[in-house]
Formats: sequence, C-alpha cells, structure tokens
Amino acid sequence: MGMHIDGKMGDVAETVLMPGDPARAKLIAETYLTDVTCYSSTRQMFGFTGMYQGKRVSVQGSGMGMPSISIYAHELIHDFGAQKIIRVGSCGAFRPEIELGDIILAQSASTDSNMNSLVFKGMDYAPTASFDLLLRAYQVAQEKGIKVKVGNILSSDSFYGDDPEEWKLWARHNVLAVEMEAAALFTLAAKFDRQALAILTTSDNLATEKAASIEERETTFEKMATIALALAD
Ligand code: HPA
Repeated sequence: MGMHIDGKMGDVAETVLMPGDPARAKLIAETYLTDVTCYSSTRQMFGFTGMYQGKRVSVQGSGMGMPSISIYAHELIHDFGAQKIIRVGSCGAFRPEIELGDIILAQSASTDSNMNSLVFKGMDYAPTASFDLLLRAYQVAQEKGIKVKVGNILSSDSFYGDDPEEWKLWARHNVLAVEMEAAALFTLAAKFDRQALAILTTSDNLATEKAASIEERETTFEKMATIALALAD
C-alpha cells in the first residue's frame, strides 16, 4: 500500500520499533515476538508484526540516514496508521565516560542536515522526542536496573565526514552522541501528531576511539530492545 512498504492498512501495529538494519528487524521479531508475520520484504527492508506480552508490535527496518528513515516512517504513519515509532539503533558517543554498550535516550536531536533547514526556510526547528515515550522509557530503564543517559544527540548526514574534529563543537554544547536518523523521525512524528523516541546503544566512542566489533554490535541490543518493547500498549 505504501510505495516502499508492502501490505495494507491493519498489517502494522500502533507501536513500531525501527532499527536501521533490516536483518536486525528480523532478529528482534524472531527473538522477542510470537505469532510473527512478515508484511513487507520490498528491497529486503523487512517489516514484521507480532505479539509481545499480549501487545501487538511491529518492527520495520529504516535503512541508514534521514532520507531513508523519512520514507519508511512517512509510510508507516500515513499509510499504515502507526502511532508510536521507536528508533532502536547505534550511536557514537562524544563523552569519554560513556562506555560501549551504554544506552542513550534521545530527548532532542540536533542536526547538520539541510532537510529541516529547507522545510523551515532557514529557521531553526528543534526536533524533540515524545515526552510520554521518553518518561516511560526512563522509568522502564530504572525498574530494570538499566543505566541510561538522557539528552541531546546529533543526527548527522555523514558517517565519514571531512573534518575529524567537527564532533567536538557539538560535544562542547553537551550533545551526547551521534547517529543518523532521529532528527528526521522526530520532525515527521510531530508533523503528523504521532509519538517518537530514539533509544541508542553506544557502538563507538569518538573521545576514546573505542569501537565495538560487528559481532558485539549485533549482540548488545538486548537492553535497548527490552526498553523499546515495554513501550507497546
Ligand atoms: N557516526 C554516525 N552514526 C553512528 C556512529 C558514528 O560515529 N556510530 C554509530 N552510528
């Protein structure tokens, strides 16, 4: 029904987890959900719907970057009626005390992208997470004894930028970490009066130059998934 997502209205749950990697979407569905159906495999950007503790949840790959997540999130909202979209992904931390595997809840997302700048005619919109989802995610983390940091993150258009020092400008203004999708997701959710949050696992640290292996990155999503799935209702 969407141009990039198969299926029809009703195939997607009100709560959708969005990992960047479609293989991760499959793994989350297989690991945590029961009664799973795959509603879309267009471009191998898989989407699944199943049950988690009696609640219906979908998991949809977003791809990397703000243009990609914008296409999928727009269709989830506009064509499938998604109400809550929770990005689950990785980030590069800016502070030395943030360890690999630590969880960051994005309260707001600054950006070096021009996407919003064009929409808002050069004025400066502040992409913000849903307070309701943020509060509940924080409470779930507290209940489960999962350490989280909450704050501003950077959604960047480049992974391999030209200026290796540029992140320090953001770090000096208390931005915690960089990823590549949240600012667009928060803006889109606000436009359609839906809720969005980004829950991020630290996969690398720009201050200490530590990085998790591909294998570690694939296995450290348990805390993130546990928090995200608890937000379904
Ligand atoms: N940059 C952008 N996105 C990321 C990074 C990074 O260093 N690490 C994980 N996602």
